[in-house]
Amino acid sequence: MGKITVVGSIAMDLVTRTLRVPKAGETVFGQDFSMVPGGKGANQAIAMARLTPHEVNMIGAIGTDAFGQSISENFEKNAVLFKNVGTIPQMTGIAQITLFDEDNRIIIIPGANNSVSTDSLKGSWEIIKNSELVVLQNEITHATNLAVAKFCRENGVKVLYNPAPARPTDLEMFDFVDYITPNEHECKALFPDDSLSSVLTKYPNKLIVTLGVAGVTFHDGQEVQLIPAIKAKVVDTTGAGDTFNGAFGFALTENLSVTDSVKFAVIASHLSVQKFGAQGGMPTLKEIKEHKNYEKKWNIK
Ligand code: RIB
Ligand code: NA
Repeated sequence: MGKITVVGSIAMDLVTRTLRVPKAGETVFGQDFSMVPGGKGANQAIAMARLTPHEVNMIGAIGTDAFGQSISENFEKNAVLFKNVGTIPQMTGIAQITLFDEDNRIIIIPGANNSVSTDSLKGSWEIIKNSELVVLQNEITHATNLAVAKFCRENGVKVLYNPAPARPTDLEMFDFVDYITPNEHECKALFPDDSLSSVLTKYPNKLIVTLGVAGVTFHDGQEVQLIPAIKAKVVDTTGAGDTFNGAFGFALTENLSVTDSVKFAVIASHLSVQKFGAQGGMPTLKEIKEHKNYEKKWNIK
């Protein structure tokens, strides 16, 4: 047991850092440029592979281009199993990321990620069925996500669903998944008419809302909890949510409570923002355990 499977997106992140974002029709000189592996699905798989001794399977698609090649090497290097990542004659997904003022702006071109379908999953159902946890995000099609979530429900496989970026169809997923982790904007898009505390109360231990520097909130069955974020010297927040999800999912498979899993994941994302790149700062289990909050403050076991 302990096996985790991510069905989701894979991308190359094309990252530009600038001191000023250009206005319409304007050109500015930026600070620097890098290409680093990303995509929410792949990021979450790598976050988990850094933490677990068990199998992490990535299911998705890349293109036949050079980006696909270096992404495969990155999976290999990070011990993510990727035999069910298809290579198809299309472009590998990319994310054009502008880092600006401790924040980021991202444009995604899905490319091969759009071809992850129930058809392309034919050889993967067995892996999905034998997983302890399946992790989904919103960078592959909703139809595929829904089919995977329903299959998991029928087969008693737990699902962690990160509805990012938000889509109008997300609510259809709710009945078939066990944990849902929007950020505050995604949550507002899902429930435009309700207060945060009322939606949290409706989905105790299921809806976990990340609030950036304000922390993470959820209802623990008794009351609404707010786990504060830990102050950090921010280098790059890209992938902080993915690190949170990966660490949260891993902690759940270790049978930690939702509350302890959130605390564990808060430490992980706190460590991740202090290094460049979506995957650059994703911590190991040792690094999380050595953080002062782990035992002393939060008594995570
Ligand atoms: O969550 C961060 C990720 O979102 C980046 O790696 C980028 O690929 C975008 O998809
Ligand atoms: Na980072």
